Amino acid sequence: MKLFDVYPLFDINIVRGKGCKVWDSHGQEYLDLYGGHAVISIGHSHPHYVKAITGQIGKLGFYSNSVVNTLQQQLAERLGKISSYDDYRLFLINSGAEANENCLKLASFKTGRRRILAAEKSFHGRTSLAVEVTDNPKIAAPVNNNDHVTFLPLNNLDVWEQELAKSNVAACIIECIQGVGGIRSATPEFAKGLTQACKKYGTVLICDEIQCGYGRSGKFFAHQWLGIKPDLISVAKGIGNGFPMGGVLISPAFEPVYGQLGTTFGGNHLACTAALSVLDVMESEHLVQNAHNIGEYLIDQLKALQKTERHITDVRGRGLMIGIDLDVPYKEVRSRLVYKEHCFTGCASTNILRLLPPLCLSKGEAEDFVWRLKKALATI
Ligand SMILES: Cc1ncc(COP(=O)(O)O)c(C=O)c1O
Repeated sequence: MKLFDVYPLFDINIVRGKGCKVWDSHGQEYLDLYGGHAVISIGHSHPHYVKAITGQIGKLGFYSNSVVNTLQQQLAERLGKISSYDDYRLFLINSGAEANENCLKLASFKTGRRRILAAEKSFHGRTSLAVEVTDNPKIAAPVNNNDHVTFLPLNNLDVWEQELAKSNVAACIIECIQGVGGIRSATPEFAKGLTQACKKYGTVLICDEIQCGYGRSGKFFAHQWLGIKPDLISVAKGIGNGFPMGGVLISPAFEPVYGQLGTTFGGNHLACTAALSVLDVMESEHLVQNAHNIGEYLIDQLKALQKTERHITDVRGRGLMIGIDLDVPYKEVRSRLVYKEHCFTGCASTNILRLLPPLCLSKGEAEDFVWRLKKALATI
């Protein structure tokens, strides 16, 4: 059997990782400014993480959600504290799309409504409702087009308020820093205004923190830069540092109903162990603060590079979620970075490089990346 060929691949077989570096099967080292698509939060193969997961698999990998799982309870308590959402409740699933799917269902159950407002250029996942609230018709099949969703420009509060005033909207879903959309941020005025309007018209506000959350922006959640408190928060990616996992943080305004939500694998023992060890390392190594400090430094360095080098037209972002606009398609630059400079980056649109490194990126590694980017751009 062959693989179902849906991914354009770099012809590189990554076999090992450590911190912000990965190695291919020929022993070539790469600097990882991509973090396996924003997934690696505490760094590749962190010894504490490896030890915790190895220990747990030797005891118990999985049992069902029909019995008490104290690891889930510990995770809820720890996550509540570190994120300042002590009073919220946690529902655990396996991926980002599933987290958003459950957010949207909860909002619809609560309000009895079926309309959703989402932002233009949004990405929320590929399952049925998640892809319907994603602003990309190419990845929505006819079965996903159910006219639930209206896409509106991020930061244009008036148009969101006009729709909300119809009092038929179940949920607004936003990424406070859009990832696939090209590192575009919600403004505090928009976020605060939207929160108020949602309250006024009985609509649930969902912040998708799957890419921009879990410390990446330099605060635990990106919306915490904007002074808002959404009703539902979806998380995934960094929560398990590569162990597949997702979660929804749910405001006390929602009452749990037996059987309304559920999953076979979500919140299993191994996943919770991975997530707990991620929080251990985030706390002991101050990784949220590191993302903030190194992110600011890297953005400054890239802005300086913009002044002296060709091809960079804008640098923006927060923490370790950074977009670099180019006046040429990213494709060639990214290829050169990978094959010549041995450095992985992400991308967005046609001409944006997207940086999503592990949150443990050091100052030296940030400088190293800027040097490699300078060399790659010089050859274009
Ligand atoms: C903002 C955002 N939401 C949702 C998702 C979907 O997550 P997953 O691929 O785990 O389903 C992604 C994945 O890239 C994302 O960036």
